[in-house]
Amino acid sequence: MTSILVLHGPNLNTLGRREPSVYGRTTLDEINARMARFAATAGMDFSAFQSNAEHALVERVQQAADDGTDWILINPAAFTHTSVALRDALAAVDLPFIEIHLSNPAQREPFRHSSYSTGLAVGTIGGVGADSYLLSLQAVAHRTST
Ligand code: DQA
Repeated sequence: MTSILVLHGPNLNTLGRREPSVYGRTTLDEINARMARFAATAGMDFSAFQSNAEHALVERVQQAADDGTDWILINPAAFTHTSVALRDALAAVDLPFIEIHLSNPAQREPFRHSSYSTGLAVGTIGGVGADSYLLSLQAVAHRTST
């Protein structure tokens, strides 16, 4: 059974009320519930983790090396643009991952145009709101189905 770990970076715990014109009105709980439902239907094991702390995300990525995780789906949020530590953790764990964004950072302020993790990712899905998460899970399901 394919085991999926979804990681949500800083401020994503406030989805639903955080800048809804940019990030939509879907809450993080709703996103996780939708993903869990899809994963159950596809026969995948699913767990989700959110933190506002860089070190907690780094430690969760490190744990993924030993806990049976097959794929990481990660929205690093602001750490996309700032965190060498998170990039190094993703490189070290050597698991395939997809980078997710609700918005399209390339259309936004210049400081959002660079990502420390994109170069390591299998791919990046962004710009379609909460659907970015579901689409990333569907992509993994297609890649892992026999
Ligand atoms: C984000 C985009 C980032 O630039 C921002 O810092 C976020 C969310 C997105 O999902 O669109 O917190 O990753």
